[in-house]
Amino acid sequence: MSFHQEFFTLNNGHKIPSVAIVGTGTRWYKKEETKDSFSQKLVEQLKYALTLPGMVHLDAAEVYRTYPEFSEALKQTSKPRDEIFITDKYSTQLKVTKDPIEGLETSLKRNNLEYVDLYLLHSPFISKEKNGFTLEEAWKQMEQLYKQGKAKNIGVSNFSVDDLQKLMATAEILPQVNQIEYNAFLLNQTPGIVRFCQDHKILVAAYSPLGPLQKKSEVSTEFYDYVKSLADKYGKTEAQVLLRWVTKNGILPVTTSSKKERIQAAQNLFTFDLTPEEVEKITGLGQHTKAQRLYWNPEYDKFNAFSQTRD
Ligand SMILES: NC(=O)c1ccc[n+]([C@@H]2O[C@H](COP(=O)([O-])OP(=O)(O)OC[C@H]3O[C@@H](n4cnc5c(N)ncnc54)[C@H](OP(=O)(O)O)[C@@H]3O)[C@@H](O)[C@H]2O)c1
Repeated sequence: MSFHQEFFTLNNGHKIPSVAIVGTGTRWYKKEETKDSFSQKLVEQLKYALTLPGMVHLDAAEVYRTYPEFSEALKQTSKPRDEIFITDKYSTQLKVTKDPIEGLETSLKRNNLEYVDLYLLHSPFISKEKNGFTLEEAWKQMEQLYKQGKAKNIGVSNFSVDDLQKLMATAEILPQVNQIEYNAFLLNQTPGIVRFCQDHKILVAAYSPLGPLQKKSEVSTEFYDYVKSLADKYGKTEAQVLLRWVTKNGILPVTTSSKKERIQAAQNLFTFDLTPEEVEKITGLGQHTKAQRLYWNPEYDKFNAFSQTRD
């Protein structure tokens, strides 16, 4: 079957591959970088992803401590740089580098890159006391990195509507992306965030798009039966059905896997389509499941009661 890829267009006109196929956090995350913690398996997985056709979208972050593996895979690939889309993040939660400028410059040096395609503030939990700078000051640095061409696009992650409004009050450049937790069992990480981003042309990227497969809800047999029936109908995997559902909502899934066939399946996502009725039915069945949040629980569990509403 011939390869077909889709792209979203960001609010600055740039294109971004519609699915990120290897996230280097979650199952690859490490507390520290040591010789012993180096994961050859992650290097192999990244190298494999970089043999796939089309532009390959990878998701990195300084806090994952996986730059050693990331840089090794980039060093060994023959895929041209302009066929690789790299998302990277400045750690606002744990201090890895002094500030976003130092963060990106360190990343570029360590990964032997001239630029990243997308640089994000990893979370909105920034304060002068904790970080040494405010959210607005952090964003000014992001804008500087954008103007210098070191980050081709800039954005945020885990931002709520309030956080975005605060940032937008002084921003010269709007974030291109807000990467948040999103799947059929968590439609809004924080109240109204998806609608707000879409109304303001900020692309939502969804990490944990396979939340319903990672942690199965015992009460949602109808949901799983339906996803399985679509997988059978299209000759695809259940994961592909759920990732495709994310894209059909205008959202970019950020997935990962330790298995080559799953990485290939993610890159080959656009070989089938779901009908509007199928998209709606997955949403409706997912909505009847209690909100399932895998990340940022201390900060956002208070919103669980609102996380399965659509707007
Ligand atoms: N910005 C943030 O705060 C933030 C937070 C979390 C994650 N992220 C980023 O997003 C990336 C992806 O996050 P995620 O790992 O939560 O994504 P995900 O796509 O929801 O889950 C991937 C996991 O699902 C498993 N999986 C795949 N197919 C499955 C199936 N059919 N049944 C059961 N399990 C299945 C995979 O296991 P196998 O390895 O066995 O295939 C893999 O461990 C991370 O690596 C990171 O880069 C960002």
